[in-house]
Amino acid sequence: MPAVIEDIIARKVFNGRGEETVEIDMITTSGFGRVAAPAGKSRGKAEVTYYPQGGVDQAVKKVEEVVAPEIVGLDADLQEEIDKTLHDIDGSKDFHVIGGNTAFALSLANAEAAANSAGLLLFQYLGGHVAHELPYPLGNAISGGQHTGGKSPDIQEYLALPYGAGTFLEAAAVNVHVHKRIGQALEKKDKLFAGGKSDEGAWVANIDDPEAIEIMAKTLEQATNESGFECGLGLDVASSSLWNSKTKTYNYQRQKKKRDSGEQLEYILELIKKYHLVYVEDPFHEEDFHSFTEITKKVKNCLICGDDLFTTNTERLSRGIKARAANALIIKVNQVGTLSDAAETIEMAKRNGYVPVMSHRSGDTCDWHIAHLAVAYLCPIVKTGIVESSRVAKINELIRIEEFLGDRAKMADLEQL
Ligand code: PGA
Ligand code: ZN
Repeated sequence: MPAVIEDIIARKVFNGRGEETVEIDMITTSGFGRVAAPAGKSRGKAEVTYYPQGGVDQAVKKVEEVVAPEIVGLDADLQEEIDKTLHDIDGSKDFHVIGGNTAFALSLANAEAAANSAGLLLFQYLGGHVAHELPYPLGNAISGGQHTGGKSPDIQEYLALPYGAGTFLEAAAVNVHVHKRIGQALEKKDKLFAGGKSDEGAWVANIDDPEAIEIMAKTLEQATNESGFECGLGLDVASSSLWNSKTKTYNYQRQKKKRDSGEQLEYILELIKKYHLVYVEDPFHEEDFHSFTEITKKVKNCLICGDDLFTTNTERLSRGIKARAANALIIKVNQVGTLSDAAETIEMAKRNGYVPVMSHRSGDTCDWHIAHLAVAYLCPIVKTGIVESSRVAKINELIRIEEFLGDRAKMADLEQL
């Protein structure tokens, strides 16, 4: 049955940070899809522009006045055509006319409506029969950098990756346990600790990077011993926010240290070696492809992941592939606008041996669609926090998908670790 788009409703809602965001209802003759857009805080420079001038109000108006007249009447099954139409309507390279977040919500709501019209779950609709592998959850337990204010670590995220788990549910349960234990350890370490958490639900404490990494490493070692499977440690250095282009140094305020590119490379390599890191995101700023190449050459059994470096963008990824810079990349669909754009980036990544990591944003909502995207596009890792409603919405949806798949469910292949 064709899924003809009958109506599109755009509205202003709020994300978990209380920022205004856009939500789209896509209504077809036989189905429905609803998606709300998330927002980043430590954004890459090459990301699309979220909203037109005038913000979410203007985005809602654009949907009503210029998008709906072009899209209503089209077949929701033709995702690429819908996404191309969004590009054509916008006409700019960075989606600043209708807004990248507007395009994101329209594109994904369309896919959801098409799946719903076909009587399928989104992951089945997009991924077909081969989509039966669950990603490993990469979860943020201690926050720092731009995600916190004041006296917290300089490194933005301290992450747990239970990459030896046999099921998604086990992996998610271990992460919750690790998060809780870290809270208890922080209570002992920081006398003023009052249980504060960042937007992503990770702890915010008055500790420095060496203290944070020690607590994480110890807790994960304990989790490995108790669970009987590997629970690895990862970092998102989010180095673009540490980089000062005038002094050409990474400025670690809390550590009271400035590191030039060479020193940064040494520092990260030391951490990888000492703490057996399995994942390091954005160890260098977003224009330093060269250092990404250097570090990728030097590490084994560790994912070097580009977030701000690639911004889910095929042009930037091809540059990385040519230079062999990084071996993994963050996929945030709203960095690039549409689902078709993100799917193309994922395909390019996989063809070239890069591990795609499907990711939330720090300012997210209880929208759970990335759970389906991770399974549909065979992403071996999903980065979506551990606790806090917006994060748990995605984790719980993956638990449901695993249950739905029953005997066919298996954990993804992460042979790189
Ligand atoms: P965001 O970044 O705040 O832009 O979502 C999170 C991250 O760097 O992974
Ligand atoms: Zn990042």
